[in-house]
Amino acid sequence: MRYMNLSDTIFIAGHRGLVGSAVHRELTRLGYTNLITRTRAELDLHDSVKVNAFFARNRPKHVVLAAAKVGGILANNTYPADFIRDNLVIQTNIIEASRINQVDRLLFLGSSCIYPKLAPQPMPESCLLTGPLEPTNRSYALAKIAGIEMCWSYNRQYGTKYLAAMPTNLYGPGDNFDLNHSHVLPALIRKTAEAIRNGATELVVWGTGTPRRELLYSDDLAQACVFLMNLDEERYNSLLVEDTPPLINIGTGEDITIRELAETVARVLGFKGKLVFDSPKPDGTPRKLMDVTLLHQLGWHHSVGLERGIRLTWDAVNDLLWSQVGNTENPGSNELDT
Ligand SMILES: NC(=O)c1ccc[n+]([C@@H]2O[C@H](COP(=O)([O-])OP(=O)(O)OC[C@H]3O[C@@H](n4cnc5c(N)ncnc54)[C@H](OP(=O)(O)O)[C@@H]3O)[C@@H](O)[C@H]2O)c1
Repeated sequence: MRYMNLSDTIFIAGHRGLVGSAVHRELTRLGYTNLITRTRAELDLHDSVKVNAFFARNRPKHVVLAAAKVGGILANNTYPADFIRDNLVIQTNIIEASRINQVDRLLFLGSSCIYPKLAPQPMPESCLLTGPLEPTNRSYALAKIAGIEMCWSYNRQYGTKYLAAMPTNLYGPGDNFDLNHSHVLPALIRKTAEAIRNGATELVVWGTGTPRRELLYSDDLAQACVFLMNLDEERYNSLLVEDTPPLINIGTGEDITIRELAETVARVLGFKGKLVFDSPKPDGTPRKLMDVTLLHQLGWHHSVGLERGIRLTWDAVNDLLWSQVGNTENPGSNELDT
């Protein structure tokens, strides 16, 4: 039994992003026929007047809030004002328009950076606001925490049913492979592709290779989002109790070292050279793993393992990436076929 009917109108805010595009694919795959999407040019979510008019005209029954200003450490550190302002404005406009227009279920996407820098590992939902945040993305994290608080406050004051989902690190075909802006896995994929193109015998990876990271394939995240929005009333309402934030982690519950990750990427792309770890370079947090007990109790588990996910990602992006690293031929494709 699914809670959302296949004909329900569902607005996916941010449908061209990594998360939004995966949610759009998943809902389409399941047969949902009334998905509403708008590009930024068609509807700037900063503009509350336009957002309200859009909601009044289209009356979405459910909303997936995957629109956000997102970036890596460098961007977060350089433009903290943009990160806090843009995210506060986008989420406030959508949450308020959803209330005015009686949206039924709304899923607000946040991030694992909402948890304290020194949170226990794995990080349970209950460690929210129990310690100082990582300074480099504090303005972004605080905007996301405000989004959770808004969902909670609206539920208490207006009886709405808004849920906040905190995914772990994601990867997938729609990722950003620009080395200046990318996260660890797309950066490793790009560097490995470049090493193959250049005929390099060594690939230098930043840090000691020992930090552990959890990674979730974007299509798995999309499945989890739709799973949550389709929960029956009893299980969905169990996430909206008055004295706890309406918050749930989404992840695999498994992590691997950066060394294992680099080795997996090398295997999938077909890099035969040696991996060299540049130890003086910063390692970042030693471990970052979500506690997904709550999600598992509800009955959802990820299905795409890391090696397969990297293979799927690489299959989807290798042509584009080879053209970006300046090669006309794809020397990795044979390995991928095996
Ligand atoms: N990627 C991850 O590893 C990860 C991990 C955990 C959580 N999340 C969360 O998931 C959510 C989505 O992340 P993502 O990785 O999918 O980000 P993304 O790829 O950058 O996509 C964000 C989307 O929001 C849209 N958008 C931003 N500002 C807008 C505006 N003013 N008006 C209209 N549309 C606007 C963007 O449109 P344009 O295409 O026009 O820019 C884009 O489609 C975020 O809340 C993020 O915190 C992501």
